[in-house]
Amino acid sequence: MKAFQIVTGIREFSGFAECAESYALTAEDLILTNEYIYRPAISSLNLPCRVLFQETYGGGEPTDEMVDAILADLEGLKYNRIVAVGGGTIIDIAKVMAVAEEGERMDDLYDHMEALRKVHGLIIVPTTCGTGSEMTNISVISRVKKCVKQGLVSPAMYADDTALIRDMLMTLPYGVFATSSIDAMIHAVESYLSPNACEISRMFSEKALVIILTCWKKAVEAGGGDAWKQYAAEFLRASDYAGIAFGYAGCAAVHALSYPVGSVHHVPHGQSNQLLFADVMRKYQEKKPVGRLNRLEELISGVLGTEPVFALNKLYQLMDTVYAKDRLSEHGVTCEELPVFAENVLQTQQRLLKNNYTELTYEDILDIYRKAY
Ligand SMILES: [Fe+2]
Repeated sequence: MKAFQIVTGIREFSGFAECAESYALTAEDLILTNEYIYRPAISSLNLPCRVLFQETYGGGEPTDEMVDAILADLEGLKYNRIVAVGGGTIIDIAKVMAVAEEGERMDDLYDHMEALRKVHGLIIVPTTCGTGSEMTNISVISRVKKCVKQGLVSPAMYADDTALIRDMLMTLPYGVFATSSIDAMIHAVESYLSPNACEISRMFSEKALVIILTCWKKAVEAGGGDAWKQYAAEFLRASDYAGIAFGYAGCAAVHALSYPVGSVHHVPHGQSNQLLFADVMRKYQEKKPVGRLNRLEELISGVLGTEPVFALNKLYQLMDTVYAKDRLSEHGVTCEELPVFAENVLQTQQRLLKNNYTELTYEDILDIYRKAY
């Protein structure tokens, strides 16, 4: 069994000014972010840092072409630390930038992944409460020419520090809050059920799950809408804990099955996970009714105030109150695609499937897709 460790330091702040002061940001530091994050939260601080807007290099999920263009633009520029302020795309790109030597491009990095070393310091400021990626050492990048999504992984890609800044969440639109917190909840559940978890990683899964469910419940009871903002610091912390947990134990079938849906039909990550979550859990219950799943039910029942036997159903209801769940068909998925997706998942997502609570066959996966369709 590998050792459980937390490599990245964690600091909590209420606002960006406090964070900038604590890290003594200078002209030697490079901020990678989006303009819509920078303008309201950072620009008025008149920091001396160089600033790079990711959207200048393209939109959507990170690609090798996007990263290569950024690396080309930074050629010859001297900077010490990278301060990544954003969601999953920004964080994935920054982790790669931190290990790229002068003149190197994405293909070079994949070619000598085992020998990567940290070239720049890395501070990550997550601006959603979902990815948890600030605590992991993997970047998933689309390699456009090769038509594959591939993870670049290295111990050198852990951030030195992550700064959890409550105020950075305050401008999140409700839908982004909802789907990112759903993603974090699923990270907590999948890492909890993973056969590759350990008692310490499960402690982080449990804590993340309890925080998210408690705060969802309170926000719903307070009338929904912006009520979640009272718990922004808690959601941010829970997402981070879930990141620690899945960084060790991995995510599993929900993430694996949601990949083709997300990439072919451009459904946002947290939402595509929600489309499949309940049906994956039902398949687990059907195939292996006795096991760690029962401990999960007990844990959820304690927070939601119900019998363990009703716990998962109550969780689905709460999640669907936070964000109304659709069917796959409502996102343009066709019946004919389902067997193609099932085959694709088995061919390309073994990295995740090995963390399943119980083994899922082609027929099982197809059945989950049909139920969610
Ligand atoms: Fe996720």
